[in-house]
Amino acid sequence: MHPNPSPLSTRPSSAKQKLLIVDDDEDLRTQMKWALAQDYDVLLAEDRQSALDLFKARQPSVVTLDLGLPPQPAGVEEGFAALGDIMAENGQTKVIIITGRGEKENALRAVSQGAYDFFYKPIQLDELKVVLSRAFYLSQLEREQKVLRGRLKDDAFQGILGSCEKMQEVFARIRKVATTDAPVLITGESGTGKELAARAIHQLSARRGEPFVVINCGAIPENLLESELFGHEKGSFTGAHIQRKGRVEMAQGGTLFLDEIGELPLLLQVKILRYLQEQVIERVGGREEIVVDARVLAATNRDLEAAMKEGKFREDLYFRLGVFVLNLPPIRERETDVIELARVFLSRYAEENRKKISGFTSDAVEAIQGYGWPGNVRELENRMRRAVIMAEGKKITPEDLEMGATPRVRYVGMGLKEAREALEKELISKALARNNGHLTKAATELGISRPTLYDLMEKFGIPKE
Ligand SMILES: Nc1ncnc2c1ncn2[C@@H]1O[C@H](COP(=O)(O)OP(=O)(O)OP(=O)(O)O)[C@@H](O)[C@H]1O
Ligand SMILES: [Mg+2]
Repeated sequence: MHPNPSPLSTRPSSAKQKLLIVDDDEDLRTQMKWALAQDYDVLLAEDRQSALDLFKARQPSVVTLDLGLPPQPAGVEEGFAALGDIMAENGQTKVIIITGRGEKENALRAVSQGAYDFFYKPIQLDELKVVLSRAFYLSQLEREQKVLRGRLKDDAFQGILGSCEKMQEVFARIRKVATTDAPVLITGESGTGKELAARAIHQLSARRGEPFVVINCGAIPENLLESELFGHEKGSFTGAHIQRKGRVEMAQGGTLFLDEIGELPLLLQVKILRYLQEQVIERVGGREEIVVDARVLAATNRDLEAAMKEGKFREDLYFRLGVFVLNLPPIRERETDVIELARVFLSRYAEENRKKISGFTSDAVEAIQGYGWPGNVRELENRMRRAVIMAEGKKITPEDLEMGATPRVRYVGMGLKEAREALEKELISKALARNNGHLTKAATELGISRPTLYDLMEKFGIPKE
């Protein structure tokens, strides 16, 4: 009569489920225990107080409750009070009321107060067994559903880590904007998790079952970007052999993520603005207007206000996109998160590489906390991955992290900004040298995006070859 244990169950199959029997009649208690002990872990209580104590201590998921309890075994109020106690303790509990025949009113009253079912005396054991097994089954289903819901919620946040106050605010804001259809502009330095946040917004929105389409405006050559965004008709330009849908259309019903929106050429800014205003697009070389329902998210690590002042970014588009701005804080402003993130990545990669590494040396902790992390979480993650591979001891050292003591000596006497720039310049030059000037490879190694690397090279006057 047992329902099959489901694969999700966390309960070892040998452990019996707990059933609490509350009845003041000792003979009946003994008889029921005798009959049910083979299937369940049976707990017995004779009055309201001992029932509540046992309930709290053992957390049974199903209870049978006789309404007539001492001090008024002929009344029902003590039984109802016990029902109230149990439901207040855990509203998911399945309480089966045992009551005298002809007390239908009490039975119904109990059900309206949260009881799962009722049963008339004298008890027919085989009937009771059926009711009990259904109650346990339902209770297990509910528990599993709760676990699943919890997992879904975690996944929706895409594993974004962060316990500092600033990240808690970010999570709260993500939850809030996710339920609207308004555009969101996600800002933040390179590697702070902008794409992760965009995915989280999509996953927490009503569009979660529909496509999430990314286009990196900085990575696609300008002359191909328009057709990539809006699609093209056959023969609209050399090489357009077939008709093709653009990314905007692919996001139909879902979410379109315009990454590095700051790189979008002015002409295309106008077209995106038009889409935002009218929800229609035209394919390149096409005449017909196509209605597309996609929610737009955009990200940038550039200062768009500065770009606006220089005339490189349209003000009207900026205001349209920036209805909500979600700013992701850089690591150096995230208090204790740095070391927490480092530990998470450490255990992740140690496990992946089957290495027994228990933590960081105190020098390493100091180095991690003292460093500016220009590449933010991406850089931290990359460094941890590398450090785990390099590490020979049980603890990660500053050398494993390529954060040796030398720089500290070398930069003594410099101001913070100057030292940071000098270090950045040095690391960039080394990364470029190691990768034979290959920008993408060097950027990946440094944990920054290619445009960021490009900008930094320009800033430090590093030749692009
Ligand atoms: N809060 C976080 N918790 C865990 N991992 C994170 C977090 N933020 C970023 N990451 C990881 O760091 C990497 C970079 O994240 P992401 O691509 O979202 O950053 P970004 O802001 O879009 O960077 P860029 O400006 O360079 O495009 C990814 O591997 C991501 O999983
Ligand atoms: Mg990104």
